[in-house]
Amino acid sequence: METQGFSTRAQLVTAFDRAVADGQGLVLRSAVRQDPTLAFAESVAAGLSSERPTLDCKYLYDAVGSALYEQICDQPEYYPNRVETTILQRHASDMVRGDHALFELGSGSATKSDLLLSRLRGNGLYVPIDVSDSALQEAGDRVTRRFPALQFIGVNAEFGLGLDLVSHTSSAFVIFLGSTIGNLPPPAEARFWRSVSAALSPGDHFLLGVDLVKDPRITEAAYDDAAGVTRRFTNNLFARMNRELNAGIDLDVVKHEASYSEAREQMEIHARFEADQEVHIGPLQRTIHIDVGTRVLVEISRKFRVEERITWLAGHGLETVEVFTDPRQWFSLLLLRRVPDDPIGGNGAGG
Ligand code: TRP
Repeated sequence: METQGFSTRAQLVTAFDRAVADGQGLVLRSAVRQDPTLAFAESVAAGLSSERPTLDCKYLYDAVGSALYEQICDQPEYYPNRVETTILQRHASDMVRGDHALFELGSGSATKSDLLLSRLRGNGLYVPIDVSDSALQEAGDRVTRRFPALQFIGVNAEFGLGLDLVSHTSSAFVIFLGSTIGNLPPPAEARFWRSVSAALSPGDHFLLGVDLVKDPRITEAAYDDAAGVTRRFTNNLFARMNRELNAGIDLDVVKHEASYSEAREQMEIHARFEADQEVHIGPLQRTIHIDVGTRVLVEISRKFRVEERITWLAGHGLETVEVFTDPRQWFSLLLLRRVPDDPIGGNGAGG
């Protein structure tokens, strides 16, 4: 698939509009990340030297990590992807009606979205937005082969830039699957919904996948599969530090720990260091000491309750049109619609 770079928001919008007009399929790649390795280095340095050591979970998804995530989805314990797929299979035609420009946030290689794409009438447009270039290329090849009438414009960037394009498009339908929303800590989530709400026009739709609160043993097992794929997924973040930052971490001392907090209703995934380590951050010429026993927070995965979600989303100008779930109520897909802002009450997008 052809690739085109952009370095400003304006350039992205122009390139996008031109591609739409030409009906051309391509991948738009941000050149703003002047130096992705430097950005990674700075993020790691800030995260590891903070009082509660943490790492930004978006760096889990390099080519190796994205491939491992696909493998996680095949593990018997990892139910979210399978259950979400079943719900999509049963209800896709109730979710997508008519013509839309379908935007997908954090699409990965995006096989699930095929279920929705097959329902797009006429010559639809599909715009997946993902930080993984390799995942986008793969999705582009597959989607153009399966749906030749559909236009594919992949955007290799973070969600924010993708949302700029949404605000530019009429009849937008944004999908955000896999309960990725649960990976955002509450303050980041609030910011996320504010920008979604601002990007959508009244009448636009949003399809949100959320993993639900359930027996903690089932949830915990999903993040620590017996085959050890999730362990390797966590480990890959440190392997990536070795590859890209020359970090020199002994990967054998980094242990994956997944535990469910009932108080916070979330999975907490840590990497625990079983020995002292000097983590070298090559591009910054810095070394950070990690003490034995240190737990680095790699990711949270929040679990939700449908009623609470509906109320929260209403506060952001999104009304719930329909709730789709599985018989055991393990996972849910919420079909949302942007309502017009209330000019007097002001309880719309501003909240
Ligand atoms: N969005 C996925 C989830 O929260 C991501 C994920 C699955 C994940 N397994 C993981 C992230 C293990 C970190 C570690 O379910």
